[in-house]
Amino acid sequence: MTTEAEDFLKRYHARFPGCSSTVFGGRDSSYERLVGAVETTPASRLLDIACGDGFLIECFLQAWPDVEPIGIDMSFEELESGRQRLGDRAVLVEGRAQALPFEDANFDVVVSHMAMMLIKPLEPVLDEIRRVLRPGGQLVVVTGRRGAQSTPALDAYREVIGPWYRAEKPAPFGLVEPRATSEEGWRGLLGEGFESVQVQAFDQQKTASVEKIVEHFLLMYDPFVLSQEAQAAIPAALREALTDLADDGGQLSVSTPMLLVTARNASP
Ligand SMILES: C[S@@+](CC[C@H](N)C(=O)[O-])C[C@H]1O[C@@H](n2cnc3c(N)ncnc32)[C@H](O)[C@@H]1O
Repeated sequence: MTTEAEDFLKRYHARFPGCSSTVFGGRDSSYERLVGAVETTPASRLLDIACGDGFLIECFLQAWPDVEPIGIDMSFEELESGRQRLGDRAVLVEGRAQALPFEDANFDVVVSHMAMMLIKPLEPVLDEIRRVLRPGGQLVVVTGRRGAQSTPALDAYREVIGPWYRAEKPAPFGLVEPRATSEEGWRGLLGEGFESVQVQAFDQQKTASVEKIVEHFLLMYDPFVLSQEAQAAIPAALREALTDLADDGGQLSVSTPMLLVTARNASP
């Protein structure tokens, strides 16, 4: 049975497949940071949980042409986009992270980018990861981190979207697993069954044109819970607010707080 949050995510990703790679892809990206944190042999069997449109898998294939990647995601549309991206270079499977359709000890490495904080509770997923990961196999995850620092662009976005939230008061349905957004949370989650746990905080910087930064904010989940009227009005208001903040070259910057988590399967 899917949760209310999963239904929301399915609707969102059906409408905006590839949103995450649009927002977070690019040079010196968090995807590349994740690839760089994996320590294993190139010919590894690798599982990407909540793989979206396969951008991370493509990064792995570029770094390690011999890797055998499998991706799983619950969004049909994201996977279709991934199949166009990857062709027969990867196997992409539709399914839920809470019930992985793979045999025990099947993978050398399990990875996930900007998705684990959206799966609540996380324990069933971590149990499944331990089951499908070989003993000693590596888990490498990038998630969002709580506590975004105020920046002019973020403040402008909040000023645009805030009045709509206050007026419409969309019902909260707890999209985020809070433990997946802090170091203490991850240490608690991975305390049993994983070892060599490391959690590193970093801020993913992006400097781009006003249009790209408008797109960046619009592809956050927040506007999608508002009315059609709000969704129609927000882009122009945001464009106007951000244009005022751009430098002489028409560029501005945003920063996304993230965590890089690595651990090894301690299961015998
Ligand atoms: C923010 S996107 C990240 C996609 C991809 N990892 C990337 O970074 O490009 C979150 C993804 O998680 C997937 N997802 C969320 N909950 C899931 C679950 N319980 N099982 C499988 N996929 C899930 C969504 O369908 C979506 O593709």
